[in-house]
Amino acid sequence: MTRWVPPLGLRFSLPLLLLLLAAAVIAPVHAYGKLKVGFYRQSCPDAEAIVRRIVTMAVEDDLTVTAPLLRLHFHDCFVRGCDGSVLLNSTKNNIAERDAKPNLTLDAFNVIDAIKEKLEEKCPGTVSCADILAVAARDAVSLATKVVTKGEWSEGGSLYEVETGRRDGRVSSAKEAAEELPDSFDEIQKLIKRFKSKGLGLKDLVVLSGAHALGNSHCPSLEKRLRNFTAEDDMDPTLDKAYAATLKQQCTSPDDNVTEVQMVPGRSTTFDSTYYRLVKENKGLFHSDEALLSNGATKMLVYGYMSSEKRFLKDFGVSMVNMGRADVLAGSEGEIRRTCAVLN
Ligand code: HEM
Repeated sequence: MTRWVPPLGLRFSLPLLLLLLAAAVIAPVHAYGKLKVGFYRQSCPDAEAIVRRIVTMAVEDDLTVTAPLLRLHFHDCFVRGCDGSVLLNSTKNNIAERDAKPNLTLDAFNVIDAIKEKLEEKCPGTVSCADILAVAARDAVSLATKVVTKGEWSEGGSLYEVETGRRDGRVSSAKEAAEELPDSFDEIQKLIKRFKSKGLGLKDLVVLSGAHALGNSHCPSLEKRLRNFTAEDDMDPTLDKAYAATLKQQCTSPDDNVTEVQMVPGRSTTFDSTYYRLVKENKGLFHSDEALLSNGATKMLVYGYMSSEKRFLKDFGVSMVNMGRADVLAGSEGEIRRTCAVLN
């Protein structure tokens, strides 16, 4: 009987296979690899429909709720990853993210709480608060998109498919939030660095900044642009002068914490690519919006999205999925909170 001799290629393949196995063991496995579209399909089949229903009701009641829902997910993901930590209340021993200065203008917590309450009734201990934020953000921005409301999108009118499977974190620190969240006076290099630290590139930065098509800002977030900008310039030179005069009429004093200014005058409840036209015209509300013009690559992207709304909406979905993967907890990490504002 002749002994089977493996062909040359296969003889070398065993050590190679062992090497590959070793590499696979050593290589870090990112938790975001455990996220998937439809994570709750078996464990809570109605989860996404429940989120959609409550978000829709909230939007029907108040069109402006889409913006804070979108912003909540962003502020969650940029501090300790998308782990629902932005929703935790401070305790007597800990000042939580929610009480950090940039988070004092967050809103729509009540919508998230209403969703969580319903989900706990239906599927107790199953759907994480971090995932509720991600799905609610997707639904909010989809509802604000004319393309969706015209019914041109399939999949029940979603702008993009959202991944789920995140778990909730147990740590929330105001100090970390103050350090890590982008600031409206950041220059481009700082913005790029901040986004890079969350695994996001230049394209993500530009396309996600397009979220500023929605919502409002309070005066302190742009105040410095209007008065005492630098020792040399009283006003931010990247802000259109006529627009600055209008903004000065709205924000009359440096300590005005009450007045709200629309991101896109007259249409800040519609999600589209108008934001990029405003940026090009130096009418972006924040210095950080105008900073996108100070780098060749980001400037090109601004011009590209200005001329193609379709591309913007498509890329926005891709970048939201990218952002939603930032430092997530999955598997047996963290917990599934019963109430989003308190640890189990
Ligand atoms: C690029 C860096 C960013 C900076 C510096 C920034 C800064 C700000 C500031 C200062 C406000 C106004 C807060 C206030 O005074 O009320 C705001 C509002 C908002 N931001 Fe951003 N943001 C950035 C990126 C993003 C991203 C990535 C998203 C979402 C994907 C987002 C979504 C929003 C929304 C929707 C609002 C309006 C909120 C409302 O009307 O309640 N922002 N942002």
